[in-house]
Amino acid sequence: MRTIAIINQKGGVGKTTTAVNLSAALAQLGQRVCLIDFDPQAHSSLHLGVVPHSSGTSIYDVLVGRAALADVRREVNSHLSLVPSHIDLAAAEMELAGEVGREVILRDKLEQDRDEFDFVIMDCPPSLGVLTINALVAMREVFLPLQPHFLALHGLSKLMETIEVVIRRLNRHLRLTGVVFCMYESTTRLAQEITGDVADFLTAVDQPECPWHGATIFSTCIRRNIRLAEAPSFGQTIFEYAPHSNGSIDYLRLAEEVIHQQLPAPLAHLQAAARPEATASETVPDPLAPVRS
Ligand SMILES: Nc1ncnc2c1ncn2[C@@H]1O[C@H](COP(=O)(O)OP(=O)(O)O)[C@@H](O)[C@H]1O
Ligand SMILES: [Mg+2]
Repeated sequence: MRTIAIINQKGGVGKTTTAVNLSAALAQLGQRVCLIDFDPQAHSSLHLGVVPHSSGTSIYDVLVGRAALADVRREVNSHLSLVPSHIDLAAAEMELAGEVGREVILRDKLEQDRDEFDFVIMDCPPSLGVLTINALVAMREVFLPLQPHFLALHGLSKLMETIEVVIRRLNRHLRLTGVVFCMYESTTRLAQEITGDVADFLTAVDQPECPWHGATIFSTCIRRNIRLAEAPSFGQTIFEYAPHSNGSIDYLRLAEEVIHQQLPAPLAHLQAAARPEATASETVPDPLAPVRS
């Protein structure tokens, strides 16, 4: 099982769009996916057509110990399950402030969970508070969505510092394994320059213990596509709303890359130990075949 937190403490960079559509693409490719909406704004839940009711249970109930993940999770599509969020989650930061072990609640809940998934993906809030720390402790991988404008790298060092502290104190397996460029406009020189800067930053290290050593910059960039912005208001993934759009093509390509991705050595070993049988690539159909031909 791969567990991936989609994090950038900046808002509006494409976290939710990527969490939802990458999850849906992986599910289309036959992977069993659980998406955890960990943002109190509940945008991933709404994007998947799940309206957070005041009476319904959510990830908040899991965090405060009132429910197990399985009680809250629901199947929203073939192969795709959602653990929805709720605005109450905003209060969790404060409610948990005095609690011992507040950073490991989600990890413990996931360990108690019996359901098997190939991917657990988390859509995180735009902050580095208790919720994001819970995600970093519970997951092994971080994907960083970036918008290629000149402030893209601003604030990145704070995120890297946070990841380093979590590795040292709470989760030694954690690594930044992927960078996804979102809302990409390939025609601008700026986009190309920023992509180059990020590549320089990531490849400047050669110590395997560095949190971003061996991270992949996915060659699929998610192009700016209005369909991706429209789909959430219909409560649909891009594959339901506009299956032939660039957005749909890009997220499927990204999902293929993610499945075939070479993980940094420490994670690759863990992965191999957990699933000695086949690699996912041997069983995956090629849904892009009509687009390619
Ligand atoms: N590739 C894209 N093309 C066009 N609009 C996009 C794209 N990706 C995201 N958006 C839109 O940009 C806004 C911010 O994206 P979102 O995924 O919600 O970011 P975050 O979760 O990081 O705050 C949303 O309105 C979303 O629909
Ligand atoms: Mg979001």
